[in-house]
Amino acid sequence: MRQILVTGGAGYIGSHTIVELVKSGFEPIIIDDFRNSERFVLDRLNKLTQSNIKCYDLDCNNSQNLDQVFSENRIDGVIHFAAYKAVGESVEKPILYYENNVGSLLKLIQAMEKHQVNNLVFSSSCTVYGEPDSGVVSESSPISQPMSPYGHTKLICEDILKNIIALGESSLKVILLRYFNPIGAHESALIGELPLGKPNNLVPFITQSAVGKRGQLQVFGKDYDTPDGTCIRDFIHVSDLANAHVKSLDQLLEKRDLRFEVYNVGTGNGVSVLELIQKFEEVNNIKLNWEFTERRPGDVEKIYADDSKIKNSLNWSCKFSIEDALKHAWNWEKSLN
Ligand code: UD1
Repeated sequence: MRQILVTGGAGYIGSHTIVELVKSGFEPIIIDDFRNSERFVLDRLNKLTQSNIKCYDLDCNNSQNLDQVFSENRIDGVIHFAAYKAVGESVEKPILYYENNVGSLLKLIQAMEKHQVNNLVFSSSCTVYGEPDSGVVSESSPISQPMSPYGHTKLICEDILKNIIALGESSLKVILLRYFNPIGAHESALIGELPLGKPNNLVPFITQSAVGKRGQLQVFGKDYDTPDGTCIRDFIHVSDLANAHVKSLDQLLEKRDLRFEVYNVGTGNGVSVLELIQKFEEVNNIKLNWEFTERRPGDVEKIYADDSKIKNSLNWSCKFSIEDALKHAWNWEKSLN
């Protein structure tokens, strides 16, 4: 069985990817030091996959730790999720973000080179497109100066990988996945998003507000140049996003000549914040308590994916609708309470 190292495998997107990997016949191995995830996730993963997932409770921003993991296994590919991701925090602690997000990638690719592991799927973000002119972005849309150190770490990591491959000396093969807005939870409600403290992202705030853990939901800005005045995003079910990683690995393992690819992972549909709120209320039969407030600094007005490349090249498509995602997000929140 092919062994896939998953850094940050106990996290939100990581854990859903573990499930998809096992479903597709891979043997995932997790490295995660649980600084932003919970240990019970492992039990849930074992239950969901009917297996005993190997997990190293180690920091992957450490060369010795990585050396140990690569030495003790026969890894065929790596999915690198482990990173800090809070935009606001990154503005307060930029050095921490650069050190962790860029540092861990460098140590990881050094270890991969040393142990002759070539296949890497890297978690990037649509944040690298900045504020696009028309809202819809394809992989060849212009890249722009990121609004936050977090966004900058993603762009720096993309550049490092692209440059190393362009130089032609490395045997590394890379697929960059630019995520749009992952939402929802596994349909079993056994795993989902576990934000530490007050959620920054929209859907966890909605579910926590609905369940009574948080107060009123604030909608940031009502005067954007969009049909209802609120921002537009491309919300994608986390299990569909997870599956895109498996398809990427398949492609890396099958295509000998593939060196570097970039895929947008979104649904291709732009949905406004207000539309999302309405859908959440409809599918879950709940009334949300919300109000408009000021725009949040750094928010992009409108962005959604041109998803034709990933659909055509990876034979990937979404299995879940946005309604499914909002139902699953709510089931997950209820299961936590
Ligand atoms: C943010 C980051 C993005 C990162 C992603 C995942 C920015 C500019 N972008 O995406 O780089 O990859 O998180 O962590 O921060 N909203 C509300 N009320 C809330 C929360 C959000 O109205 O309580 C609105 C926001 O203004 C935005 C939309 O909901 O218009 C989505 O916000 P969010 O879930 O934070 O995602 P992004 O900002 O798209």
